[in-house]
Amino acid sequence: MSQFWSDIVHGLTPYVPGEQPKLENLVKLNTNENPYGPSPRVIAALKAEAADSLRLYPDPNSDRLKAAIADYHSLQPNQVFVGNGSDEVLAHVFQALLKHSRPLLFPDITYSFYPVYCGLYEIEFEAIPLDRYFEINIHDYDKPNGGIIFPNPNAPTSIPLELEKIEALLEKNKYSVVVIDEAYVDFGTESAVRLINTYPNLLVTQTLSKARSLAGLRVGYALGHKDLIEALIRVKDSFNSYPIDRFAEAGAIAAMQDADYFEDTCRKVVATRDALVKRLEAMNFVVLPSGANFIFTKHKTRDGAELTAKLREHSIIVRHFKNPTRIAPYMRITIGTEQQSEQLISALEAILR
Ligand SMILES: Cc1ncc(COP(=O)(O)O)c(C=O)c1O
Repeated sequence: MSQFWSDIVHGLTPYVPGEQPKLENLVKLNTNENPYGPSPRVIAALKAEAADSLRLYPDPNSDRLKAAIADYHSLQPNQVFVGNGSDEVLAHVFQALLKHSRPLLFPDITYSFYPVYCGLYEIEFEAIPLDRYFEINIHDYDKPNGGIIFPNPNAPTSIPLELEKIEALLEKNKYSVVVIDEAYVDFGTESAVRLINTYPNLLVTQTLSKARSLAGLRVGYALGHKDLIEALIRVKDSFNSYPIDRFAEAGAIAAMQDADYFEDTCRKVVATRDALVKRLEAMNFVVLPSGANFIFTKHKTRDGAELTAKLREHSIIVRHFKNPTRIAPYMRITIGTEQQSEQLISALEAILR
């Protein structure tokens, strides 16, 4: 607290990211990073960028990166917005497109940054409860609103929503923006990108942090009608002209262009996930259906907080959420390598013995 703070700062409740431990040799399954490194083409592009040209500002419009993203998704470059991680993109989305006189709607259990942006930009919102299976029921969103946002698959539940349901939601909400946050879409969830040319009220956000193994580079993007993109560019150019530095642009272009490496990595993660789910179910865990690179799971008799603490004693960190209480029995576990899965299973066997 300080007398020097602006009024709004006193009331902020900032987002708390998952721990980035300083200790080595931990099995880190707590922040949904990819266990595999980025494409070798990304590393080569980053090395080539370490040059004299760093004295110059990067391209403020990131035109080459937008072209590479548009090309990958078969869209036009003016349908692409890029930012410093999808968190920054989302922040601009909240300010540019989701602040209206009616409340913004999002699930009660979802990415916990959404209410934080609402606090920062003073956006009224209504949290819509997930149903008893922890699923999004689109009929619950059948009410006047100033926009709708949720991740698909949802986080931290990992459950995907079918594209027909998203399309039905878009049909019913032609006068508000529907944002689908596809941070984890590449691990087995159907993308809404192919609806973009049909629905001018649809905005899809994606990130290079997860499926493209580049959480450390900080690149995310939004795809949608050019008028939605223009609103984001207006906010960005009123905030920071250069959110994508020279390394980020070079590395991200290389990542978008190496589809084979990315598809191969996703396949490996999905195979490891599906094998892990079977093993956990055999050990009396309930695992929610996952379309992501993480799972949300609870043991039939043991407590989520207790298991999280015990796993840490075995040098394995996973994420546990205390609120709301109906998710307290669960743990969110990122899918690691096969070897990390084995370590997780052995630790759980020892804990449950
Ligand atoms: C649902 C969801 N959206 C967006 C993000 C932001 O990702 P990034 O800022 O790394 O692109 C995350 C990060 O964990 C997430 O879980």
